[in-house]
Amino acid sequence: MRAEDRTVPAPSADEVKVEQKAIGFNYFDVLQRRGLISGNEPGRVMGIEGAGVVSAIGTNVTDFAVGDRVGYLRSQGAYAETRLIAADLLFPLPDDISFEIAAALTVKGFMAWLCAVRLFEVRVGQTVLVTTAAGGIGSLITRLAAHRGAHVIGMVGSAAKHAVAREYGAADVAVGLDGAIDMVARLTTGNGVDVVFDGIGADTADRLLAAGTVREGGTITSFGASSGWPKADPEAVARRRATVLAPQALAYLKSADELRVAMADVFTLYRSNAFGEIPLTRYALRDAAALHQDVERRTTAGISVLVP
Ligand SMILES: NC(=O)c1ccc[n+]([C@@H]2O[C@H](COP(=O)([O-])OP(=O)(O)OC[C@H]3O[C@@H](n4cnc5c(N)ncnc54)[C@H](OP(=O)(O)O)[C@@H]3O)[C@@H](O)[C@H]2O)c1
Repeated sequence: MRAEDRTVPAPSADEVKVEQKAIGFNYFDVLQRRGLISGNEPGRVMGIEGAGVVSAIGTNVTDFAVGDRVGYLRSQGAYAETRLIAADLLFPLPDDISFEIAAALTVKGFMAWLCAVRLFEVRVGQTVLVTTAAGGIGSLITRLAAHRGAHVIGMVGSAAKHAVAREYGAADVAVGLDGAIDMVARLTTGNGVDVVFDGIGADTADRLLAAGTVREGGTITSFGASSGWPKADPEAVARRRATVLAPQALAYLKSADELRVAMADVFTLYRSNAFGEIPLTRYALRDAAALHQDVERRTTAGISVLVP
């Protein structure tokens, strides 16, 4: 990945031109750069979410005007100072939401809301395990679940991230999956947690089912694939009477209306302090390769944004 100068043409009829102010980093970007998602396309501009100001509109565009603040979350080509984007993929950005918070919350805040509110409503008194408590989505789920009154057990990959998970509201923190399995057994006297939110994927759900880490009738929400696509043995799921969910953001954001309503809900949640203060790590856009290296070394925590 390298920085290049390109000329951005005028928008076509259904597009707008956006001067970008903040760009969201997603683990998706790393998986895509490695060729694990959407193939290998030479010259591709990385990134799928950002926020900025409309600087030109196509002749058919009526929803947005020059000077509007906007955000988006599912359009390839975000790692850029200026970009073109279909107007249908934009949502209006309220004045009280900064560009950086929009870039931080658009995919990750939406996923946290989808997993911990819409698909499984975390409630007071429940016990929750978050397997990537120091990750972008995982840290927001941790905050949200703690805010809703759950007891959150956070799992991190290394002791260095212990404090981060606590800062996000995890009441107890375990290092590594074996540590988390032991901790859940101890804290729930062998019964297991009500729900697991898993960003690691691969065989994590199977290992948690085999260890009885999720309670009888409990739920595993596999939202991520940091170490491989998630899978769960149907027999093990059935034996535990468990529910396994594997939500994909885009399946819930198929139209401009769905996107705009969902983002309004996420920002309402943010204003209600459900995500608390969101600490951001900022990288200059030209240093995007350094950010990817840090993520692959697993030295980043929480949410990172690129600033043009
Ligand atoms: N379903 C969807 O629609 C959707 C949408 C967006 C993102 N995602 C997926 O959700 C996951 C999390 O995204 P994010 O933006 O929160 O990423 P992130 O901020 O980079 O967090 C990922 C976390 O996973 C852990 N991790 C990284 N590599 C790992 C490995 N090889 N094995 C085990 N753990 C590893 C790291 O925690 P430790 O170092 O503490 O272990 C890291 O904090 C990614 O897989 C992403 O692709 C899914």
